[in-house]
Amino acid sequence: MRPEHFPDDIKPYVVPEAGGRLIYRCLGCGVEFGIEKLLYICPDCQSVLLLYDPEFDRLKKISGEQWRRIFDYRRMLNTPALNGIYRYHELIGPVMPLDSIVWLGEGHTPIVEASTPLQELAGARFFFKNDGQNPSASFKDRGMASALSYINYLLNHGYLDEVLAVCASTGDTSAAAALYAAYLHPRVKSAVLLPHKRVTPQQLSQPLGSGAMVFEIPGVFDDCMKVVEQLSEKYNVALLNSKNAWRILGQESYSYEVAQFFEYDMKNRVIMVPVGNAGNITALMSGFLKFHELGIIEDLPVIIGVQSVHANPVYRYYLEDTPEKRRFEAVHVSPSVAQAAMIGNPVSMPRVVSLEAQYNRAASGRKVFVVEVSEQEIMDWHLLANRHGHVSCTHGGECLAGMVTAVKQGLISDAQSVVLDATAHALKFANFQEMYFENRFPKEYEITPKPELINAPLLVHPVDLEEVPESGRPLAGKSLDRFISRVSEEIANRLDLKKV
Ligand code: F0G
Repeated sequence: MRPEHFPDDIKPYVVPEAGGRLIYRCLGCGVEFGIEKLLYICPDCQSVLLLYDPEFDRLKKISGEQWRRIFDYRRMLNTPALNGIYRYHELIGPVMPLDSIVWLGEGHTPIVEASTPLQELAGARFFFKNDGQNPSASFKDRGMASALSYINYLLNHGYLDEVLAVCASTGDTSAAAALYAAYLHPRVKSAVLLPHKRVTPQQLSQPLGSGAMVFEIPGVFDDCMKVVEQLSEKYNVALLNSKNAWRILGQESYSYEVAQFFEYDMKNRVIMVPVGNAGNITALMSGFLKFHELGIIEDLPVIIGVQSVHANPVYRYYLEDTPEKRRFEAVHVSPSVAQAAMIGNPVSMPRVVSLEAQYNRAASGRKVFVVEVSEQEIMDWHLLANRHGHVSCTHGGECLAGMVTAVKQGLISDAQSVVLDATAHALKFANFQEMYFENRFPKEYEITPKPELINAPLLVHPVDLEEVPESGRPLAGKSLDRFISRVSEEIANRLDLKKV
């Protein structure tokens, strides 16, 4: 719909204009910095930063009801810059002119209710939000759209001439970074650092295909992260890890979309999210808090982070109930099928601690929890979800396993419904499905395939068939007829089909 056709009270707001201010604020010492330069950590105390809108209160001049109408009407716009995460422009990037926004199709991923038999098996009413349906097949595109739109803005306004963007990754950040950087080629070039053999072949193919420089490094993600941090401190590169606070802003769109999908009714809702580097759970809390503060939602949903026993530093931190007694300790990770979240020292931990306290204060009670699941549970629920018509990656399986655990622990009641973040597409992690089906998991994964979940292709090649088609040598006439009839018979036998 064209802007001029919107109702008169919506027209002035439907296409947002760049305005307002954003500043970096240090979570350690509270010092603030301007955004003209790219900054990842506080130059004074080295702590992580978040972006704040110092004039946020101006948005309160518009009522929650009016904001809901603005966002709902924006759905009807046909303006590419506002088709993705920037539907929520005032919250995600008020300073961003529309002509700097990079939109590659990210955002507004489907929320699909689980099939009734799967809900019965799992013991709760729930939905998957399929973030694997983003352009690079993971939720990382949300944050990358924000970070690269900002870089594009700096380039367009002469603050930068050219950029070498770097990131360390367990596979999905690098795929997203390389994709968005490639769109801005040649002004933006990218290099990615991956832990050798800890990224799936599909994930590895993504930055290679986008033309990034790909470095594989011995060790795990936490080691790559240290190298990339040193690179960003000593050299002139743009860091695209979630240390980059623009990434967090973009990922807040997930919360806004969930709220909008449920017509802004977040009472009795629970959001489950896998936790690795902890950027996503940070963004979820921050997003819901902003919608709550503006009166767009009345209730804050419960947020439950999920970690594997093989990479569980955030879970361990929250085992202690008394906030003052909590102490963070990094862990050494072991191999996990939720491989993209296999992180022992999450960069965003200080953000989680700060926002979790803020969230519970705003909710007047505890609404943020973290649960732990086994590798076996992750894999079994991942396969079960997909057997019931979903396209969930292992991390979506981790969320489902976490939901089952949370129901058992009484964290989720019958009155509540749950949204699970299927953070990437199932195909990115097909190798784990293959290892399960072929019973090839190395011992350290601690996974024993359940026979009823195993599936394998059956080769149909009747022994009495002398001739079968081959590439370049098709069959014809009688031999083709015989081939079709024998193969059909064989399939009908295996399927126990009755003749019509
Ligand atoms: N799920 C998937 C598919 C991921 O790729 C990641 C993180 C997570 C969950 C965990 O999210 O880090 O925000 O807590 N992947 C990062 C990467 C670390 O490099 O791709 P988080």
